[in-house]
Amino acid sequence: MELKATDTTKVNWSGDALAIGIFAEKTEVTGDLAKLDEKLDGTIAELITETEFEAKPGMTLVSRVGSKSPIRKIILVGLGATEELKLDTLRNAAAAIARVGKKEKIKTLAISLPVAKDDKAATAEVITEGILLSLHQDNRFKSKVEDKGAKLETVELLELGNQEEAISQGEKISSGVILARELVNGPANSVTPITLAETATELAEEYGLTLEILEQAECEKLGMGAYLGVAKASDIPPKFIHLTYKPEGKPRRKLAIVGKGLTFDSGGLTLKVGGSGIEKMKMDMGGAAATFGAAKAIAQLKPDVEVHFISAACENMISGKAMHPGDILTASNGKTIEVNNTDAEGRLTLADALVFTDKLGVEAMVDLATLTGACVVALGEDISGLWSTDEKLASEIKEASELAGEKFWEMPLEEKYFQGLKSSIADMKNTGPRAGGSITATLFLKQFVENTPWAHLDVAGPVWTDKDNGINNVGGTGFPVRTLVNWVLS
Ligand code: BES
Ligand code: MN
Ligand code: ZN
Repeated sequence: MELKATDTTKVNWSGDALAIGIFAEKTEVTGDLAKLDEKLDGTIAELITETEFEAKPGMTLVSRVGSKSPIRKIILVGLGATEELKLDTLRNAAAAIARVGKKEKIKTLAISLPVAKDDKAATAEVITEGILLSLHQDNRFKSKVEDKGAKLETVELLELGNQEEAISQGEKISSGVILARELVNGPANSVTPITLAETATELAEEYGLTLEILEQAECEKLGMGAYLGVAKASDIPPKFIHLTYKPEGKPRRKLAIVGKGLTFDSGGLTLKVGGSGIEKMKMDMGGAAATFGAAKAIAQLKPDVEVHFISAACENMISGKAMHPGDILTASNGKTIEVNNTDAEGRLTLADALVFTDKLGVEAMVDLATLTGACVVALGEDISGLWSTDEKLASEIKEASELAGEKFWEMPLEEKYFQGLKSSIADMKNTGPRAGGSITATLFLKQFVENTPWAHLDVAGPVWTDKDNGINNVGGTGFPVRTLVNWVLS
């Protein structure tokens, strides 16, 4: 499919289908829309009044127009109230249009949407993302894919001439989101720590990134006892992956992104049983997936910022080599951990990953992890928890997320709750009481951060969706690649 931006107006375009954005309070047909409607024998006005089209965000309506018209079908898409027009509304409107285009077997499609925030480039970029991401369907594991007939051949963004650069930016970001989705969708017998290391190797080769993979023996030398404690039950070796993007000149900033990379989480001997969703735990590398997705986008966008991408990848399995509940592990900063629950494994792997990253001397580091069910209980499936030791970093991420259309909610780093992790025999336990479970998980991680301003994102809810909706289809969502990319670019 070819995506292009042109200066053609909706009055002059001809092709299979034209999609037009409609504001909720502006449902009367005036100006350019009226001129177009004249050509269409009043179809638009009729559609709006007769169907009582309310133009709520994402709502669509499609109709065939007379065969003499230069346009065969018209698609109306709701944008909600004018003053609230956000970039994310346009992203979702474009997604809704693309879905209709696909369903209606349209080959040549034009999209006429208003410019948001007075920013043509950002508008073209988010429309591109909406189209590409809603059309992405992961059929890699199907032996046969039903051919649904005609496919979209060209999509033209009207009245957005000269925005090729912005379209290309949207394509690069989407390619990162799609990589993250596909890594999450891949089951544990397909995406292993070795696969993640191979993915990083491919990214390094394709985009000239620096790659360092620490094998088990090297991790042992570095004293990564917490990470290796989790990894050791598996027959598949752990891979500690460190990918670096370096700009050509002197970097304006140095940043790091650390992703939880559990390619499967059985719970370990504290096995996930009965309704705990063990069969979904292939998604427990969603943090690593988004980290590499961000790497893919950033490597193509080439900002003047140095970025480190890190994941301590492994599986949490059971075997004769598995850690026992109650084992005491020593992390690479010397702190000791009583593992009272082997299912709180993500924080153990992250402990050593954070100690490693903290030593890189970056300006800020962000970890993202499918860390706790408690965070999903607190914020639901669409919103990620955000904790930070640094107010500036927290606001940078919130700002980046706004543009990305990804939701975060800042949660408290309530030091008092660390009492819940008190151990009588080691420096701390890895699991506290049920209450405040996502907060104690964060306080645990904080024990492994010393020097670097740090933010923790608990993405257990939003990395996966069970329904086709907006820009997402069932499966991995690629959350929060867009936020990470915006953060690095800002
Ligand atoms: N990977 C899970 C968290 C998770 C839950 C991710 C749901 C995605 C969806 C994590 O390793 C885990 O098992 N956490 C435990 C922590 C508990 C033992 C303190 C949990 O949330 O139950
Ligand atoms: Mn677990
Ligand atoms: Zn886990």
